[in-house]
Amino acid sequence: MGKFYVTTPIYYVNDVPHIGHAYTTIAADVLARYHRLMGDDVFFLTGTDEHGQNIERIAEEKGLSPQEYCDSIVAQFKELWRMLDISNDYFIRTTDARHIAAVQKFARALLASEDVYRGRYAGWYCSRCEAFYQQDELLPGNLCSVHQRPCEWTEEENYFFALSRYQDRLYHLIAETDFVQPEARRNELLGVLRQGLQDFSISRERVRWGIPLPDDPRQVLYVWVDALLNYITAIGYGDDPETFQRYWPADVHLMAKEIIRFHCLYWPAMLMAVGLPVPRLVFAHGWLTKDGQKLSKSTGNIIDPFDLVRRFGSDAVRYFFMREGAFGADWDYTDAAFVRRYNADLANDFGNLLNRTVQMVVRYFDGVVPEAKGKPEAVDQKFLAMAAQLGEHVADAVRRVALQEVLILIWKVVEAANGYVQDTTPWELAKAQKNGSVQAGERLATVLYNLVDVLRLLGYMVEPVMPRKARELLKQLGLEFDPSAGWQALTTVGTYPAGTALSPGEVLFPRYEQ
Ligand code: MSP
Repeated sequence: MGKFYVTTPIYYVNDVPHIGHAYTTIAADVLARYHRLMGDDVFFLTGTDEHGQNIERIAEEKGLSPQEYCDSIVAQFKELWRMLDISNDYFIRTTDARHIAAVQKFARALLASEDVYRGRYAGWYCSRCEAFYQQDELLPGNLCSVHQRPCEWTEEENYFFALSRYQDRLYHLIAETDFVQPEARRNELLGVLRQGLQDFSISRERVRWGIPLPDDPRQVLYVWVDALLNYITAIGYGDDPETFQRYWPADVHLMAKEIIRFHCLYWPAMLMAVGLPVPRLVFAHGWLTKDGQKLSKSTGNIIDPFDLVRRFGSDAVRYFFMREGAFGADWDYTDAAFVRRYNADLANDFGNLLNRTVQMVVRYFDGVVPEAKGKPEAVDQKFLAMAAQLGEHVADAVRRVALQEVLILIWKVVEAANGYVQDTTPWELAKAQKNGSVQAGERLATVLYNLVDVLRLLGYMVEPVMPRKARELLKQLGLEFDPSAGWQALTTVGTYPAGTALSPGEVLFPRYEQ
């Protein structure tokens, strides 16, 4: 047991939240909830990145002040996180007075370091990425390679950060430690490092919507510097040293792969410059596409998270996005895959298992879970041995941020439980018991006890992914979700209190018919 500090990127408020934002935030929430269940002292942070040229322009187009505009979008992010049961401990906005004060404190320290100098910047700027590019990084027509939109030629007097001085230290961090995952991302960064790092400008002269540099208010801090600092300002870098000490360095910064340069090069170098420890892990998951195409509002190729939650409920959405693609790889969303998984994994395999088990306990034991009786048979031993290992396997996958694997592991036990029902044929045992077989009655009790007990275990194991349905499941088993016993005890088989009355409820996942 220790502490676990997990973050999502802070999202731009240039548009309403979309499924890409939801994907990262669900993953972070799942990690946070597993670590809480594992007994860690968790801090889970998400928020919004509100400064910069792009936001300034959009607000102007809409005839709003930048702050009014930001407030309206932030409300929608918060609403989506509420609908998705996101359990963040804090929501940071870069327009918070607290963030601004702490950023200025950091900026002072950075300006006082030997790594900042004044210089003239001339180059290409993409206001969507809020990033500077070299000519050879652009697509023909000076288009940004991420947004396929024109970059602007910019020339101004700026403060620069001497990133080039950190070449060796960053090489060591990336090549020789487990700072960045998955492996493909490490290789990508090593490629960038081999080309040699360029110093970057940390202030902008022409942008107004930003945090003024202390002692030079004509300049605002470059929005990426402002944004990266959220990870420390949110936990009290500026005003709460105790909380800051408790959680920093971050255990994992989650994001998609397009922003790892900022997180794996700029960010650790800035921290080193002021003598702060660097984060433990930057984990970059892949990109989502829909029907093989990039998600894009302009082409109408979108997945609306609000709509999905309304139709299927938050738990099914959370499950699907964690289960469908390997966490770390790119993958493609289709409506058909969503419905297939919903019906197969959730309605059929998982929901039905609960339903059948509860029904049998009601029918054969008046709804009160019997004690297991007699000596376990080979079929019981095999099933229980597999279930007994689940907790350890899940914890291991969680520590590796292998979120799809977590669900694959759990569903192996779901499958085994369904197989156990087929193999032990409780309805035959019930018939034999009726005909006077005491032994069949004992077998029936054992089989149903084992099923209820493993369902309890499964309820806890899926809780971080499906917090609502897990509670409903446990409720039907006559239990309350109560993690206080700790991971070890919760994942031990045979701990379900026999003699408990079940409380049959609604089908967990009604089949979805189109
Ligand atoms: N504001 C910056 C991040 C600053 S962090 C100090 C930013 N914001 S963003 O709104 O563009 O969010 C980017 C992040 O949203 C990605 O890194 C990823 O977490 C998520 N995603 C956005 N689109 C996505 C997909 N199509 N697929 C997967 N994740 C996506 O960058």
